[in-house]
Amino acid sequence: MDGNGRWAKQKGMLRAFGHEGGTKSVRETVEASAQLGIENLTLYAFSTENWNRPKVEVDTLMRLLVSSLKKEIKTLTDNNIKLKAIGNIKLLPKKVYKELNEVIDFTKNNTRMTLTLALSYGSREELINAIKEISVKVKNNIISVEKIDESIINEHLYTQNLPDVDLLIRTSGEQRISNFLLWQIAYAELYFTPVLWPDFKKQHLYDAIIEYQNRERRFGKTSEQIS
Ligand code: IPE
Ligand code: MG
Repeated sequence: MDGNGRWAKQKGMLRAFGHEGGTKSVRETVEASAQLGIENLTLYAFSTENWNRPKVEVDTLMRLLVSSLKKEIKTLTDNNIKLKAIGNIKLLPKKVYKELNEVIDFTKNNTRMTLTLALSYGSREELINAIKEISVKVKNNIISVEKIDESIINEHLYTQNLPDVDLLIRTSGEQRISNFLLWQIAYAELYFTPVLWPDFKKQHLYDAIIEYQNRERRFGKTSEQIS
């Protein structure tokens, strides 16, 4: 979800206004995804690198997170959506951490869609943690080196219960991944749109999905093998 700052600047407003505007797109995208029958939606809300932003901006984002969680608990409940989080969430301010865990707990039996928030998330950090955990298990003879395969790696990532990414959407015209789910997007379809995140509406999601439906996913095979 990129482009909040530029959206605000275009309107002669402060960056915080852009983040506020972005929360509306979050609600719209979450609702539209659930209505479409998407089982998993992951939103990259805050990266490990975002901690390096000016303190006032980080504080604003954290405050918005708490208020959105409080406000959206109804949207999640009404739409039967389960909330999860990936990332180093222990680094979040206590208030955010507490609210987040409350909503996760409150929605844990919902079944229609899993909404995962990537918070204080960095893919390299996730991989480093996985390597450390697996190394300890190897050292303690819990797993043998020969047994290490894709599923062992998957089980040690924050995303352990999530499937591989099918479609990755990045808004705001930037064409980069920015340390997001590097392992999990190995065969994802990438979609870049110039739309700034606060302007991202249902129709933009539909456009991305229609484009996705027209891609041929070959997973290394030939076109003939697929059809
Ligand atoms: C995305 O918008 C929101 C977060 C990273 C939390 P930005 O804040 O990155 O907006 P730009 O890139 O400055 O326009
Ligand atoms: Mg940005």
